[in-house]
Amino acid sequence: MSKLFPKSANKLPLQIVIYVGVLAGIATAGVTYYMTPKYTRVGYAPVQPVPFSHAQHVQEVGLDCRYCHSNVDKSGHSNVPAAQTCMNCHGTIKPNSPALAVVRESFEKNTPVPWVWIHKTPDFAFFNHAIHVNRGISCVECHGPVNQMETVTHMQPLSMAFCLDCHRDPAPRLRAPGDVYNLDSRTLADQGRADEAQNYIHDWKLMPPQSCSGCHR
Ligand code: HEC
Ligand code: HEC
Ligand code: HEC
Ligand code: HEC
Ligand code: HEC
Repeated sequence: MSKLFPKSANKLPLQIVIYVGVLAGIATAGVTYYMTPKYTRVGYAPVQPVPFSHAQHVQEVGLDCRYCHSNVDKSGHSNVPAAQTCMNCHGTIKPNSPALAVVRESFEKNTPVPWVWIHKTPDFAFFNHAIHVNRGISCVECHGPVNQMETVTHMQPLSMAFCLDCHRDPAPRLRAPGDVYNLDSRTLADQGRADEAQNYIHDWKLMPPQSCSGCHR
């Protein structure tokens, strides 16, 4: 067998398959980029099992995002808190509130609160929270003003075009590291500190991926 054809010939069909696959991928990507309605998931605000208000807990109680989303700056996944985190306060604050019945039940049975997951990228696209929030990209850029929301609403498309728009030119979207969790803060550029943004680009050697394999691994 291997004497009839040169060894490299064995690779040919595979190369063709890959080549056609890549072409199809680029074609689909083009369609996705230019034709997907930009706002497909925008506005999604499912009813949650507990009427939890970010506005109340962030603005009035004064909690930092990381009190509950404690992994957001440490890992790719930003966790939603366990009932235990709520019970730190609600063991004594409004301990009999009917609005908190589901939380108390989860805490006692040691089961998760059945929160409805709102923001979700498909499995074939790679996303990592820590890499963004540790590089001056605030939650507000991708999630909108959650600190003012009574019910969390999907605000940005989080489509490939949305990701790439920033990856091509992140400078105008950077905040000082201390402002990342202050969703009312303004970008460095909006504060007339564009040169500082350029310094961060330089010092951090920021190069968000634009090639397919950067996000499709
Ligand atoms: C007291 C705890 C607590 C604090 C503080 C908190 N969150 Fe949340 N967050 C939750 C809980 C519980 C949920 C799930 C229920 C919901 O969607 O309201 C959630 C959901 C979210 C979601 C939607 C997750 C999904 O399903 O896609 C985002 C985005 C979010 N929070 C961002 C923030 C940001 C930004 C801050 C800081 C400004 C913050 N949170 C502060 C508890 C908290
Ligand atoms: C740092 C303390 C603290 C933590 C942690 C906390 N809360 Fe609260 N929560 C409060 C305070 C303070 C209020 C306002 C109580 C009042 O109106 O008297 C409140 C009010 C509420 C209410 C309205 C209750 C009612 O009857 O009006 C709900 C629902 C609620 N919290 C859910 C949660 C959930 C779910 C979590 C966990 C994800 C959580 N809270 C974590 C302090 C906290
Ligand atoms: C660069 C965009 C971007 C930034 C900045 C960002 N997020 Fe997200 N967030 C996403 C995407 C995309 C998803 C969906 C991730 C998935 O499917 O795994 C998501 C999902 C979430 C979820 C749902 C659980 C999860 O990990 O899937 C929570 C909670 C959340 N984000 C909180 C935050 C908080 C808090 C901040 C700021 C400290 C923040 N995010 C900053 C894009 C972002
Ligand atoms: C507002 C700006 C902004 C948005 C929006 C954004 N990114 Fe990024 N992204 C960055 C920056 C800045 C970096 C850090 C680059 C570096 O450190 O060189 C980054 C890095 C990355 C990386 C590289 C991670 C690694 O392992 O090196 C991936 C993957 C990525 N982003 C995926 C996404 C996806 C998927 C989305 C859309 C859901 C998205 N990003 C939206 C700014 C953004
Ligand atoms: C910055 C990150 C990023 C880069 C770079 C990127 N993509 Fe994507 N891509 C995404 C995300 C995120 C989605 C999912 C969007 C959604 O949920 O609607 C996606 C979706 C897709 C899809 C699926 C379309 C569909 O119908 O769902 C294809 C095909 C695709 N990308 C191909 C490519 C190709 C080819 C390249 C290189 C030219 C590329 N992508 C570069 C982030 C990226």
